[in-house]
Amino acid sequence: MMTLHLGQTLTFTGDPFREGPSATTHSSRGAVLVEGGRVIETGEADALRAAHPQADVRDHGDGLILPGFVDAHMHYPQTAMIASWGKRLIDWLNSYTFPEEGKFADRAYADEIAARTLDLAIANGTTALTSFCTIHPGSVDAFFAAAEARGMAGFAGKTCMDRNAPDYLSDTAQSAHDDSKTLIERWHGKGRATYVITPRFSPTSSPEQLGALGALWVANPTCLMQTHLSEQVDEIDWVKGLYPQARDYLDTYEAHGLLGERGLYGHAIHLEPREADRLREVGAGLVHCPTSNTFIGSGLFDMAARVAEGQRIGLASDTGGGSSFSMLRVMGAAYEIGQLKRNPIHPAQLLWLATEGSARVLHAQGEIGRLAPGSAADMIVLDLASTPAIAQRSALASDIWEALFPTIMMGDDRAIAKTYVAGRQMKG
Ligand code: GUN
Ligand code: FE
Repeated sequence: MMTLHLGQTLTFTGDPFREGPSATTHSSRGAVLVEGGRVIETGEADALRAAHPQADVRDHGDGLILPGFVDAHMHYPQTAMIASWGKRLIDWLNSYTFPEEGKFADRAYADEIAARTLDLAIANGTTALTSFCTIHPGSVDAFFAAAEARGMAGFAGKTCMDRNAPDYLSDTAQSAHDDSKTLIERWHGKGRATYVITPRFSPTSSPEQLGALGALWVANPTCLMQTHLSEQVDEIDWVKGLYPQARDYLDTYEAHGLLGERGLYGHAIHLEPREADRLREVGAGLVHCPTSNTFIGSGLFDMAARVAEGQRIGLASDTGGGSSFSMLRVMGAAYEIGQLKRNPIHPAQLLWLATEGSARVLHAQGEIGRLAPGSAADMIVLDLASTPAIAQRSALASDIWEALFPTIMMGDDRAIAKTYVAGRQMKG
């Protein structure tokens, strides 16, 4: 059965960081034709109605039809401890994060939190998540099973740690490799699941563990790899002490086979010139986590510098270090950090980061993050007047970007009128 969705539509025709905000097409009466969970065609409402008179019509009025948001880095096991007060990164991990992650030895608890997280994502218009799990293989099964039950694209892996973590959260170089390998065989490429090899970060992995995971990546080159990089200054000093032979933080990954085009490096705030050059050369994915970077007090990601270098950049909530499940709030925080860096990021660029940009760092462009023929029908309908304050502001707008920006800055889950996953309505 074909379904024709009518509403405002907004489509990127190019990269708005390179080509500017005009690299988009806006239609105040557009249409998206969906069949079998995929987008078949997009265009003007009148034309598609005439061409497909048999299609079931869903008229979203003034609602803005967009691809669902793609969160390129988060931690589903931290959902229950989001907004934990008063600590910076290392103390925050030891005081709040590790005790909570320890609970995921219990598969039933993992299932409960996975379900809660994915339902929060859908409520907030996020249709694809990239998650760290815990050291427990069952935490990975819980995540992928919950994503599969909802038809969602999921990117995740077992978090590996063999030092500087509590005993109850420690594996070894060998068990991290073997458990990850088993999980790859179980999940990678099954339905909408993509396995992501996941060393937490250099302080919690021995060189042997990083090397074992690097070898696993060579053996499984279609997997992604995710980790953290240069988030806090204290963390960087710690890494230099733990890896005295490394040229810089990135080199701890690079020397162990963990630098590549399919690598996702969360935060990447305090980069040295060599690190920026190498990330650019290999085409690695940098993941900007603005709500987390302010909440944990990490620093200000230099978007303008990274864009000028030609880096590939995605956007992420980094919950529970990030303080919001809403990618609207994450876009708003990216804007605020841009302002503190004297670089006002355009709404077209913010939206691109949360959709196509994240999809690209995940090597899933064409599948998620856009609504175009052949892509998954993962989409949302955004209400651009979801609260009185937003409505009065957007009513004064003279173009779609002015109409959208108040929702980016002030919107929350009330702005997500509808969420569709593979064509199936999950909200609204
Ligand atoms: N660095 C290592 N682990 C974590 C984590 O769980 N959250 C954040 N924000 N940074 C990290
Ligand atoms: Fe993180």
